[in-house]
Amino acid sequence: MRLIATLLLTLTTPVMAASGHAPLAQANVNLTDHNTLQRGARVFVNYCLSCHSASFMRYSRAAQDIGLPAGVLEANLLFAADKPTEMMKVAMRPADAAQWFGVAPPDLSVIARAKGPDYLFTFLTSYYVDPKQATGVNNLAYPATAMPHVLWELQGMQRLNSDNGHQSLEVTRAGELAPEEYQRLVNDLVSFMVYMAEPARLDRQRIGLWVLAFLVFFTWLAYLLKKEFWRDIH
Ligand code: HEC
Repeated sequence: MRLIATLLLTLTTPVMAASGHAPLAQANVNLTDHNTLQRGARVFVNYCLSCHSASFMRYSRAAQDIGLPAGVLEANLLFAADKPTEMMKVAMRPADAAQWFGVAPPDLSVIARAKGPDYLFTFLTSYYVDPKQATGVNNLAYPATAMPHVLWELQGMQRLNSDNGHQSLEVTRAGELAPEEYQRLVNDLVSFMVYMAEPARLDRQRIGLWVLAFLVFFTWLAYLLKKEFWRDIH
C-alpha cells in the first residue's frame, strides 16, 4: 500500500509541479526534423550553457543524432569546450552561481522529463516586467524565479494585464523576433531539450516500427503454419 502511494506520488508530482500556476501553453515538439533540433541546439548552446550545464550530454553525440557535420559543430556550437567529445559543462562554478542568483541553475540534461515540454514552453514564453523582482522580470509559470529573462532581446518585453482575475501577456517592447517567430524558436529549443533528455528516443521509435512490422509478419507466418498443420485433421 505504502509502495503504491509512493509510486503514485512520484508519478503525479511533476505534473502537479508543472500545473501549479499558469495554465500551460502547449509545446509543439518535433523530434523528426533535424533542422528544428539543430536550431534548438544552437539556441541552447548560445543562451543557456553559460549558466546551466547539460552534463549528461556529449557534444559529439548530439551532433551525430541531429545530423550536424563535424566542421559545423566546431564552428557553431563548441564555445564552452575544446573537444567535441566533451560533455556540455558550464564555465561557471555552481557555488559562484548560487551566490549570484541565490540559487544554483539546475543541470538541464533531463529537465524536459522532469518538467515536461509544455511547462518549459510556458516558462520561456511567459516572462513579464516586474520592477519588484531583483531581475526586473517575473514569470507566470514560475513566479519569482531567480532566472533572468535571458531571451528578452529576441522576445522583447511583455506586460502582465489582469482584469477580473483573467491574466494575459502583451508585448510592450518589441524584440528582434515577431511573436510567432519567437514561439517557433522556443519550440525548437524545447524540442532539443526533449531530445537531450532521452537521446535514444529517436532510435527507439525507429526500431519500434521494425519490431511491429516483424510481429505482424510473424503472426501471418504462424497463421499459415497453423493452417498447414490442421489441414489433415479437419
Ligand atoms: C544568467 C544565468 C542563466 C541563464 C543564461 C539561463 N538560466 Fe535557466 N536558470 C537560472 C537560474 C538562476 C535558475 C534557478 C531559478 C530558480 O529556481 O528560481 C534557472 C532555472 C531554470 C529552469 C528550471 C525552472 C524550474 O521550474 O525549476 C529551466 C527549465 C531553465 N532555467 C531553462 C533555461 C534555458 C532553456 C535557458 C536558455 C534559454 C536558460 N535557462 C538560461 C539561470 C540562468
